[in-house]
Amino acid sequence: MYEFYPYFTNDGSVGLYSEKDNDIYHSTYGALTEAYEKFILPAHFDKFFQKNSEIKILDICFGIGYNSKSFINYYIKNLYNDAIDTNNIYNDIYNAKIDTNNTLSKISACNSENYKNLENFKIYIKAIDTDKILAYLSPFIVCNKKKLPKNYKLPFKNEKIERMLKKTTERKFEFYDGVNLLFLEKICEKYGEIFENQEIACILRDKKYRDYFDPSICRLFKLDKFSRCSYTPIKDFCAFLHNIYYLNVSKRYKKPLKGFKSANFIFDLKIEDARKELVQDDNMYDFIFLDAFTPAKCPALWTVDFFKLLFQHLNADGMILTYSNSAAVRNAFLNAGFFIGKIFNPDMNKFTGTIAVKNKSLIEHELSEYDLGLLKTKAGIFYRDENLTDLNEAIITRHKNEVEKSGLISSSKYIKSFKNNIAE
Ligand SMILES: C[S@@+](CC[C@H](N)C(=O)[O-])C[C@H]1O[C@@H](n2cnc3c(N)ncnc32)[C@H](O)[C@@H]1O
Repeated sequence: MYEFYPYFTNDGSVGLYSEKDNDIYHSTYGALTEAYEKFILPAHFDKFFQKNSEIKILDICFGIGYNSKSFINYYIKNLYNDAIDTNNIYNDIYNAKIDTNNTLSKISACNSENYKNLENFKIYIKAIDTDKILAYLSPFIVCNKKKLPKNYKLPFKNEKIERMLKKTTERKFEFYDGVNLLFLEKICEKYGEIFENQEIACILRDKKYRDYFDPSICRLFKLDKFSRCSYTPIKDFCAFLHNIYYLNVSKRYKKPLKGFKSANFIFDLKIEDARKELVQDDNMYDFIFLDAFTPAKCPALWTVDFFKLLFQHLNADGMILTYSNSAAVRNAFLNAGFFIGKIFNPDMNKFTGTIAVKNKSLIEHELSEYDLGLLKTKAGIFYRDENLTDLNEAIITRHKNEVEKSGLISSSKYIKSFKNNIAE
């Protein structure tokens, strides 16, 4: 049986827990909020769209898709719809439907010129994950539960998460449910087998998970048919999609997507080890989201050798975003040829990740003297995986041996002496 442990994070979006690794996939303060704050806002897509007419994004570790979905949600909500609305107002003014300086001054801030061509922008996202079941479940996941079920209790035992969930998170980001529908359409285009997968059917119809899935999207799947294992394979898949899309889904889903042209969005999901997939990929990307599990447990996607591979796939003005502040990760980026900077979260007033770039001028927050010093300690010894094929365990053992043999100062000694120097 597939291990699936969903729970509501503090902003009403569903996060996952892994019992096997005793680790969470998403922060308890909010899976959606985390995606926005760590990947979407620090990327400054608004600036990117002022200069470019297409974007290529690589989403490494797609999971249940918060980073890709948040990007599309942000694009439609904050850029696309605003631009379309603004253009419509301009057209109305031109056609003398409305005529007030007041309206003009209101919209001048939107800078319509820059976004005029947004309707024709091309979006390409390659998303990679080894876990097919999670990727298939991603469009069904509730991303913005307005009110949690009464007396909501964590569906599994974990005291740490229970404690964290007692806190509250301000809901800052609205999520359009239609974005999930769009991803269902995109995933189905390539992976029709999602309709035939028994594990997906079992999870979606299991009562204990009911709160975590969007019932309207689940209904499209005709789950009863699944449960009796007597469905007939869908012959005309496109017609089927057309039907579910246009006939069965309420306006609430479709309206916010307005004139967004689904054909301008290519979603290329790969169920594969990211190392293997990228060795054979010849795309260059503008943005890379790196959302692998913590380096200490799963270093395979944090090695200097993997970062060298990412270097080959990043455009000159591109940016890699990660949540990790680890010295070993930062040092690996530097050794792979990148410039690195920190991600600052103004609401939390703290640094919440690292960016890696080829163009140094894209860095807003440089590493401090303290951060740079830490890279020269044992904590800065990075993970290696020369052939890009080793298991996490082998990479961890190799790293442990290197740290043990190293003559570098330990990070604790360094931190102590740094603090003493400041105090003097
Ligand atoms: C922290 S979770 C990512 C969460 C995800 N971004 C989301 O929004 O749900 C890490 C993901 O990495 C995937 N993963 C682990 N090792 C991988 C590998 N070598 N290549 C690709 N994906 C991997 C796991 O299946 C898991 O879904």
